[in-house]
Amino acid sequence: MPELDASKAADAAAGPATEAAAGRAALRRAAVAAVRAPSVHNTQPWRMVLDGDVLELRADGRRRLTVLDPDGRQMMMSLGCALLNARVALAAEGAGAQVDRMPDAADPELVARITVSDAPVDATLGALAAVIEERRANRRRFEDDAVPEEVIGQLESAASAEGVQVLVLRSEEDRTAAAVLSQRADAMQTSDPAYQEELRAWISTDAQRADGVPVTAAPHAGEAHDDIPIRVFDTEGQGGLPTETHSSIRQCLFVLAGRGDAPGDWLRGGEALERLWLEAAALGYAASPLTQSVEVRQTRLQMRSALRTEGWPLVMVRVGKAPATPATPRRPLEDLLEERTADGEQQ
Ligand SMILES: Cc1cc2nc3c(=O)[nH]c(=O)nc-3n(C[C@H](O)[C@H](O)[C@H](O)COP(=O)(O)O)c2cc1C
Repeated sequence: MPELDASKAADAAAGPATEAAAGRAALRRAAVAAVRAPSVHNTQPWRMVLDGDVLELRADGRRRLTVLDPDGRQMMMSLGCALLNARVALAAEGAGAQVDRMPDAADPELVARITVSDAPVDATLGALAAVIEERRANRRRFEDDAVPEEVIGQLESAASAEGVQVLVLRSEEDRTAAAVLSQRADAMQTSDPAYQEELRAWISTDAQRADGVPVTAAPHAGEAHDDIPIRVFDTEGQGGLPTETHSSIRQCLFVLAGRGDAPGDWLRGGEALERLWLEAAALGYAASPLTQSVEVRQTRLQMRSALRTEGWPLVMVRVGKAPATPATPRRPLEDLLEERTADGEQQ
């Protein structure tokens, strides 16, 4: 990006104060990109602090799903998605990023500290900026056409670059196991009144609401004949998308697994999920996570042994061609970004 390079050179020539201001402005734009990230039930469990030339990404524990996500795993994965978007935005500007993940054991809500640095810029990552706004969780009918091996390979390397184990479910045995365990988990969840109550709280029929899953982005409840069930968000009978989602074991299915099972592994898992998802969008493919089987403790253990993952399964992702699906809302930046100047003043 020659124009950006020229402006970076001009900033450097103008002195450290201008360079610091440019870094801060880039971090602010990274915060804007972070907010567009996907999150479980669109809870957006994050807040950010721009303090001098450091952007802090923080968990907002009040937005954790206490029934579905008692350990905060999906919350951390959602934060990982936000972190990846911030990194993409910086890379797209030609800015190197220093990212310290979980930097303070005494402050577990501090998920990452990001600064602009002389670190090499990952142009492959920066290229994904163009699709941050277009990426969606697509719960529509996916086409039966096989996803080309070349595309599968690109998605596999995108997610692997983030340090997780990536499995492409190829054998009949693995696909069937994933389907059976997803069905089992989905049935256990839907029969749990506490789960249903929590789900209802995050379904939105209000076009003004800035979080939650809008009914317009959910299939209409009904008999869907899915091998791998799509979570039924339509608790009000107002789902705007066709009931039939055709979620089949014949489709392209990935499972991402963490190396360990600690918050840092979940964060990396979220970065990998969003990188795969943006890469799919850039290649013209729809994607959607299916996480019921890894939310229920028992089926998660069974997934691990059935798929023989090295670490812990974090998310299954369905990829394919599908019609467009509506955008979901986000909270405004001013509600979640606190801005402080280097001399400690709040802005
Ligand atoms: C960690 C994580 C888990 C998710 N699990 C599911 C899921 O099981 N089923 C589903 O339909 N969507 C799932 N989603 C998608 C979110 O509901 C979606 O990202 C959110 O509603 C925002 O919509 P958007 O992705 O279209 O911007 C998940 C997203 C994340 C980040």
